Amino acid sequence: MRIAIPQDTERFGAVLIHGVQHVWELDASLKQRKDAYDDSNVIRRISYEELHDIEQQMAVVVPMRGERIKLVEGVLSGIPNNCLVIIASNSPRHPVDRFALEREAFARFSRFTGKKIIVAHQQDKAIAAAFRQAGYENILDPETGLVRSGKAEGMIIATMLARLAGRKYIGFVDADNYFPGAVLEYVREYAAGFVLSKSRYAMTRIAWHSKPKIVEDTLFFAKWGRTSRNTNHLLNSLLAEYTGFETEIIKTGNAGEHALTMELAMQLRYSAGYSIEPYHFINLFEQFGGLPGSTLRKKLIQEHVEIFQIASRNPHMHDTDKGDEHIDEMTLAAMQVIYHSPICPQKLKKELLEKMGEMKLSSENNEPDDTIYYPPLWQIDLAAFHNILAERPFAPLLVPTAKHRSLPKIGPALPEVRNP
Ligand code: GDD
Repeated sequence: MRIAIPQDTERFGAVLIHGVQHVWELDASLKQRKDAYDDSNVIRRISYEELHDIEQQMAVVVPMRGERIKLVEGVLSGIPNNCLVIIASNSPRHPVDRFALEREAFARFSRFTGKKIIVAHQQDKAIAAAFRQAGYENILDPETGLVRSGKAEGMIIATMLARLAGRKYIGFVDADNYFPGAVLEYVREYAAGFVLSKSRYAMTRIAWHSKPKIVEDTLFFAKWGRTSRNTNHLLNSLLAEYTGFETEIIKTGNAGEHALTMELAMQLRYSAGYSIEPYHFINLFEQFGGLPGSTLRKKLIQEHVEIFQIASRNPHMHDTDKGDEHIDEMTLAAMQVIYHSPICPQKLKKELLEKMGEMKLSSENNEPDDTIYYPPLWQIDLAAFHNILAERPFAPLLVPTAKHRSLPKIGPALPEVRNP
């Protein structure tokens, strides 16, 4: 891959947010190829081997709920063979057991390709028991005793499985992507971010090239959707309140397509459902922003938490048949977590309330409801969590408990981590 270095970078305490980086070439050949266009001051050539090295340490998670199997098979075909695939499904089991059909189809896919695939169901009793055993009960629905529904909750399950499988990086791709080539590109870009990063705590977020739409019989390559435009603006306003400089640096507030180092994935607090991606930023600022009341380790300030935003080349074509209500749900979810953050300034809260009013998303008392938050996953005892999953069909793809000592220890990056 040949990729431009970031043109600008904003800093918020220990968090570095790099501006969107452009990809000049998706494949820039092997390491050994020395030519006149190797590296320049502004472009970095990342060899195939460097990408491959990261990919083989990566788990790629596909969260899904009731997607068409054919569509998901396309997504799987785009994920490089050396990545571990984790499918976190919340598809219905009644009246038709759609999950059973999925499991069969993905097992077949695995047989034909030799790809390692973990298929887990979000409502699996053993997974719920593992969280309960680990004292991570917030994620359980009090009525059913099973893991709550929601995209974030599926992602959290998958993050624990990736950790237990010993993967160093974890990436996410939605299951409803029509272009396998785009999926392959995203994974390569996740890897590129980690090649460029100097920190153990890094995240790559994809800024979609465009989302093609038919407008009056013509294909129109729209750049921003309603939700992204709104979330990016609000996150940038929050940043500006603290730095004193207006900015447009954040372009990936809602990026469903993103990847993290496992070290960072274990440090974050998560929020429920579709608010998870915007809340990454909020929680990074809360934890690592160096604001009064928080303590940053000197080492962390030097090492930084790095956020890369990479503009993909393929258009993003996904299932768009989910309606306006769904868009409103995602827009509101982002606004809720910004509004309720202890670091949200009064001025921004006022703007948020006005916007919610204009968009007719306000609740009765004019305060948005808050959402559910989940504590950092480093707190979970791995062996206790793992033991309960020993009988699951995917258990052979996890590092056996007897070898847990080979898993890197991940404790808190901060001296104190606030409990939710
Ligand atoms: N495991 C699991 N559990 N997966 C879920 C659930 C759930 O409860 N709900 C949805 N998913 C899966 C979907 O099947 C899909 O693969 C993915 O999560 C994204 O959900 P969509 O409902 O298709 O979201 P979207 O395409 O409108 O929005 C996506 O892009 C936004 C950025 O524009 C999501 O990734 C958003 O999180 C993201 O902000």
